[in-house]
Amino acid sequence: MEMQPPPKMPAPLTMTMLMMMMMMMMMMATSVALASDTVVLGGQAAALLGWKASLDNKSQRALHSWGNTSMPCNWRGISCGTVMHWGQHQPMINSISLRGMRLRGALESLNFSALRTLTRLDLSHNLLAGSIPPSIEVLGELHALLLQGNQISGSIPLGLGNLTKLHSLMLHENELSGEIPSLIGNMSSLVTLNLSSNHLIGHIPCEIGHMKHLVALDLSSNNLFGKIPSSIGGLTELTSLYLYCNQLSGQIPRELGYLLNLKDLQLGINTLSGSIPRNFHNLTKLTVLNLRLNKLSGLIPQKMDYLSNLQYLSLSENILSGSIPNSIGNLTKLTILYLYMNQISGHIPRELGRLVNLEDLDLRGNTLTGSIPNSIGNLAQNSLSYILT
Ligand SMILES: *[C@@H]1O[C@H](CO)[C@@H](O)[C@H](O)[C@H]1NC(C)=O
Ligand SMILES: *[C@@H]1O[C@H](CO)[C@@H](O)[C@H](O)[C@H]1NC(C)=O
Ligand SMILES: *[C@@H]1O[C@H](CO)[C@@H](O)[C@H](O)[C@H]1NC(C)=O
Ligand SMILES: *[C@@H]1O[C@H](CO)[C@@H](O)[C@H](O)[C@H]1NC(C)=O
Ligand SMILES: *[C@@H]1O[C@H](CO)[C@@H](O)[C@H](O)[C@H]1NC(C)=O
Ligand SMILES: *[C@@H]1O[C@H](CO)[C@@H](O)[C@H](O)[C@H]1NC(C)=O
Ligand SMILES: *[C@@H]1O[C@H](CO)[C@@H](O)[C@H](O)[C@H]1NC(C)=O
Ligand SMILES: *[C@@H]1O[C@H](CO)[C@@H](O)[C@H](O)[C@H]1NC(C)=O
Repeated sequence: MEMQPPPKMPAPLTMTMLMMMMMMMMMMATSVALASDTVVLGGQAAALLGWKASLDNKSQRALHSWGNTSMPCNWRGISCGTVMHWGQHQPMINSISLRGMRLRGALESLNFSALRTLTRLDLSHNLLAGSIPPSIEVLGELHALLLQGNQISGSIPLGLGNLTKLHSLMLHENELSGEIPSLIGNMSSLVTLNLSSNHLIGHIPCEIGHMKHLVALDLSSNNLFGKIPSSIGGLTELTSLYLYCNQLSGQIPRELGYLLNLKDLQLGINTLSGSIPRNFHNLTKLTVLNLRLNKLSGLIPQKMDYLSNLQYLSLSENILSGSIPNSIGNLTKLTILYLYMNQISGHIPRELGRLVNLEDLDLRGNTLTGSIPNSIGNLAQNSLSYILT
């Protein structure tokens, strides 16, 4: 069926219709506000008691203070704020903090509709199982959602994308599976995202590049594959980027070299190939650079010496070739230097002797000549032969 072009209308009539539509939209907005106003403290208390009843007996005992519905603000782990309701300040629950209480149960039994005023939900390090219910999308005021260290399974619900005020989303150390939804990019206020140690699969969505305020991004220890999206290079506030222990492949995008605030970059235990981007020398705030166990080839970047804050450098278990650049001697804060199992050749640079803070050095599995300078760090002299064999 073809769409008919809209009938032509005289201009004033169109204007009137526009205004009517706007008024209707405003009325709809008002009714939404009223609907959430009908969330009252008593209903919130009832929702929490309903959840308590769904938990095992031990957990219920741990929540023994949850009982008198006239004062839920005094219950263990509950705090309240106030909202305007019919021109009056009314108390409402704004925070649930029940970390590490061995609570056993599921989130599905929690009535989120009654808890729209929550800004913080911390149920981390308990024994919660089941999935994250899609109804969590109604918690539009949430700033922090901390569910790490449980046994939560199932996939990450699309509705999380609605939580646009979230600053902190911690779902690590659970049993989550499925893909990272691209709608996650709509959480544009996010500062910390930790999804590590789950069973997530699929590609890293490029929409992750929309979360411009991200400071820490951790997707490590999952089963993610495909390329690292170059859009991550737009997250210029990032200080920590952990993508290690996945099945990521392709080249390291040179855009990562734009992340000038990075202090900690860990891409180890993947199947990344190609060379280390040359612009990485711009990452002068780096203290940790771990690229171990990939398929990186080419030379160790010559301008490494710009990374003068590095304390931990591991390029081991790759197929890097060429020699160790003399400039590595400028990295005087290094405590760990691992270059083992590559195809590095040539003479060990004398400049290595400048690494007076070194605590561990491993150069094994290369074809280096010469010896380790005596002046080097705090290494036991008798371990030096082992470093090279
Ligand atoms: C939990 O407590 C109730 C009432 O005290 C009891 O009937 C039930 O058997 C208990 N369940 C378990 C699993 O201990
Ligand atoms: C609940 O708390 C209110 C207010 O403090 C008090 O008046 C009431 O007696 C309490 N009810 C129970 C069952 O303890
Ligand atoms: C959940 O809470 C809302 C709002 O308080 C209420 O209208 C609804 O009936 C509750 N749902 C259940 C299943 O109790
Ligand atoms: C969540 O976002 C979707 C799509 O943007 C929208 O249709 C839905 O109404 C939102 N849900 C809530 C509870 O705001
Ligand atoms: C989510 O982001 C997409 C673009 O990535 C946008 O089209 C959509 O409108 C956003 N949804 C909401 C609810 O903001
Ligand atoms: C994510 O959580 C794990 C486990 O607590 C922690 O070790 C890691 O540092 C966190 N990642 C970031 C980027 O903070
Ligand atoms: C980063 O390095 C490249 C060359 O590798 C250089 O052209 C560029 O100006 C540097 N960018 C910044 C912001 O320092
Ligand atoms: C590295 O050390 C050498 C020799 O001391 C010095 O000339 C050079 O400027 C240093 N490089 C940087 C980036 O500081």
